[in-house]
Amino acid sequence: MAFPTTSVGSRAMLGKSVVAAAPRGQDLRVIDMRVLTTDDWKLWRTLRLAALAEAPYAFGSRLADWQGAGGREQRWQDRLAIPGSQNLLASLDARPVGMVSGVPTGEDGVVELISLWVEASARGVGVGDALIRAVERWARSNRATALRLAVRYGNGHAVALYRRHGFEVVAGADVVENGQREMVMVKPIDPR
Ligand SMILES: CC(C)(COP(=O)(O)OP(=O)(O)OC[C@H]1O[C@@H](n2cnc3c(N)ncnc32)[C@H](O)[C@@H]1OP(=O)(O)O)[C@@H](O)C(=O)NCCC(=O)NCCS
Repeated sequence: MAFPTTSVGSRAMLGKSVVAAAPRGQDLRVIDMRVLTTDDWKLWRTLRLAALAEAPYAFGSRLADWQGAGGREQRWQDRLAIPGSQNLLASLDARPVGMVSGVPTGEDGVVELISLWVEASARGVGVGDALIRAVERWARSNRATALRLAVRYGNGHAVALYRRHGFEVVAGADVVENGQREMVMVKPIDPR
């Protein structure tokens, strides 16, 4: 955690949970986590296009691949309908600012964290932490034993965030995505 977080409780309601974070003595901010369905594809599209435009250094997908002919409604709905996946949207003080997905892999017990993004103005207040914790909860509820991700070399903020959450680099497991080298990080999931 980058700063002390004050939790004023959490509640589960139709896939929502609410936590509150108090960054460095400032006003209490409310982070709301919501599970998306295919009906939410426009909301997902808005955030994902913003992510690809703002942080092209972080993703294998390119903005142009999801615009024009590549940005059909069906394609966005299919993205949200990956079997066994969960897609989450985070709001900060009721404004959508972040996203992440948990998706299955071909490997037994191993699930993957993808598409993590927090809008620049909402960074540093715990939204990334909340998104990662939510994916971990999803992984645990799916009886996964490990959560994996790939992150580009040089994406220091993301790597620091993942390390804080207990992810470790898997030596010799680098992958190349769109010509960019990525390290693979894994966190064992405690079945508690
Ligand atoms: C990685 C990411 C999700 C972290 O979000 P977050 O909620 O701000 O995470 P943290 O709270 O860990 O940020 C810690 C600090 O780093 C800063 N920070 C985080 N990402 C930053 C960035 N890309 N540029 C500059 N500063 C950044 C935060 O403002 C905060 O600063 P502070 O400690 O001075 O307040 C976010 O930076 C992001 O969306 N980056 C672009 C997409 C990306 O890299 N995704 C991961 C793909 S593997």
